[in-house]
Amino acid sequence: MAALPRRALVAGNWKMNGLKRSTTELEKVVAGAGALAGKVELMIFPPATLVTAFAATVHGSEVGIGGQDCHAEASGAFTGDISAEMLADAGAKAVIVGHSERRTLHKETDVEVRAKALAAWRAGLTAVVCIGEAKDERVSGKTLDVLGRQIDGSLPDGATGANLVIAYEPVWAIGTGLTPTAADVAEAHGFIRERLTARYGDVAQAVRVLYGGSVKPSNAKELMGVANVDGALVGGASLKADEFLGIANVYR
Ligand code: 13P
Repeated sequence: MAALPRRALVAGNWKMNGLKRSTTELEKVVAGAGALAGKVELMIFPPATLVTAFAATVHGSEVGIGGQDCHAEASGAFTGDISAEMLADAGAKAVIVGHSERRTLHKETDVEVRAKALAAWRAGLTAVVCIGEAKDERVSGKTLDVLGRQIDGSLPDGATGANLVIAYEPVWAIGTGLTPTAADVAEAHGFIRERLTARYGDVAQAVRVLYGGSVKPSNAKELMGVANVDGALVGGASLKADEFLGIANVYR
């Protein structure tokens, strides 16, 4: 695979899956990560209950741990919520914000996602900001409009290659086994890069833009080979170390 101007990142979003015993899968990821060192960065985003234990497991390895969401405030009377500072304290290096499951099921808006991204930066975490169109938006030709609106509304000023990662996840491709064509991925990622460049200038060249939605070892090579795709945000296939490493091995 051609050398990227940006270091590839393959990230596993475990969503609401994982118990203490799942540490064995993480140990397998850590064991496989050595062979990929310097070629691709690996991160696992477990449920919040496992962040502390997982951060301890990956300590000293090439694998990073992140949270799946955070509150915009650092602390306070917000029962059930977790702040970016708490995630950092638990050993997280990054946090996903604006995942479509939160935008849909928790009615999160671009304004809230932007506040969460700022909270991530305040705590010293990388914000992995998710964007993506729904099926009806794709069918009615509104994909790029939706992506543009989400980029403008969800991203704070002050992005760098270190503090921001974008994940393009078409909602209709998540957990469905469906994926966009390589041409559609190229169009979306090219558009995202242009929009980031208009907003941030040259810094945009350092911001990684991941593809997410039904990524598997069998389709990873084609999807990761598309221009402006800097890695993957993997859901279901990240729960098994061999599948996750099979995807990351594309960069070997
Ligand atoms: P799947 O890989 O299960 O489609 O999930 C993608 C996703 O939502 C990652 O954040």
